[in-house]
Amino acid sequence: MIQRTINVAVKERPYSVYVGNDMLALLGPTMREQGVKDDVAVITDATVASLYLDPLVKHLRHYGFRTLTIVIPPGERQKSIARSTKIFTSMIEEGFGRSATVLALGGGVIGDLSGFIAATYHRGVALVQVPTTLLAQVDSSIGGKVAVNHPLGKNMIGAFYQPRFVWTDMSVLGTLPLREITCGLGEIVKYGVIVDAPFFEWLEQNVDKVLGIDNEAVMHVQATCSGIKARITSEDEKETGIRVVLNFGHTIGHALEAAGGYRLIKHGEGVLLGMIAESHIARELGMLSTEAHDRIVALIRRIPLKCSVSRLRPRDIIDAMSRDKKTVSGKKRFVLPDRVGHVEVVENVDPSLIRESIKRILKKG
Ligand SMILES: NC(=O)c1ccc[n+]([C@@H]2O[C@H](COP(=O)([O-])OP(=O)(O)OC[C@H]3O[C@@H](n4cnc5c(N)ncnc54)[C@H](O)[C@@H]3O)[C@@H](O)[C@H]2O)c1
Ligand SMILES: [Zn+2]
Repeated sequence: MIQRTINVAVKERPYSVYVGNDMLALLGPTMREQGVKDDVAVITDATVASLYLDPLVKHLRHYGFRTLTIVIPPGERQKSIARSTKIFTSMIEEGFGRSATVLALGGGVIGDLSGFIAATYHRGVALVQVPTTLLAQVDSSIGGKVAVNHPLGKNMIGAFYQPRFVWTDMSVLGTLPLREITCGLGEIVKYGVIVDAPFFEWLEQNVDKVLGIDNEAVMHVQATCSGIKARITSEDEKETGIRVVLNFGHTIGHALEAAGGYRLIKHGEGVLLGMIAESHIARELGMLSTEAHDRIVALIRRIPLKCSVSRLRPRDIIDAMSRDKKTVSGKKRFVLPDRVGHVEVVENVDPSLIRESIKRILKKG
């Protein structure tokens, strides 16, 4: 059942995010309604495949789609050019042409990689996002940022490429391990801090319900976060302005992921720790009151982190930061809160303050 439809009003081709429970029976008809042609490449990872692939493929075949299933190992390291090449080969061998559609069934890794495939295969084919993690449902499946990583940096090769629609079925969250729920909370807390103080306050009261995947609480989170992401993307699709606020916690977060070789620290975990470090920078710069800083850190500390950062070296984190896309002409650029619910872009932060903030999170984990 579809319980909510959120519109993403990007200029060229507005699209919908459908949110609900037990929605599979409606997917085929919706794809037909949205003009999806017969050839569909379903890209997923082995874990998601074992849980959800068979019924999905059976359903699509029932609606007359010709499916090619591409199952890859799970993990951030699959977001690569090497993996993309293999996927292109399968699609070419299958005879898929310009009218093909890529269906991304999985978390943010599958969504970003499949989006990159869709954006580039035959100069662009249709894309349907079927996000299955909390993080992908509240964030990565919406907004059209698609990319793969390069050994020298995350998301270095990619495009802005919007999906035909996003299919957010909350019933798949029941199989998600706690560690992945905490990752989703990274982006969820971020939305509260950057633009929505009442939502932050709601999280202070309800974070335990979200951790327990309470249906009503998750529905509220989905609606709020998808709404914020849709609004910000509609206003600034290509990140020339307001969209940059979504990077709070990500300057240090991405660097933590890279320093851990994309194995030790997951994206959402990097964002949680990155928000602690960046809030500390904001407080030290005199932008953020101690009270607001303490509220942000206290909420994040209630989310149980499963990664270990003690083996990371500050030097590696700083090096990773200097290669990040968010470095503009050599200047490190931070999105920092000046209160709960509002952020500002700050350049030229003193490197010793950055180092000190990183050391603090490495000590505490
Ligand atoms: N494009 C964007 O705007 C954007 C925004 C935020 C994050 N991202 C990207 O998203 C990626 C992280 O995404 P993620 O956190 O979803 O990680 P992920 O895609 O690696 O998924 C996490 C794990 O959960 C498993 N899984 C997925 N759905 C499941 C389910 N329903 N039940 C059980 N297990 C399930 C997967 O097999 C995987 O092992 C990063 O690469 C990050 O850069 C992109
Ligand atoms: Zn993110």
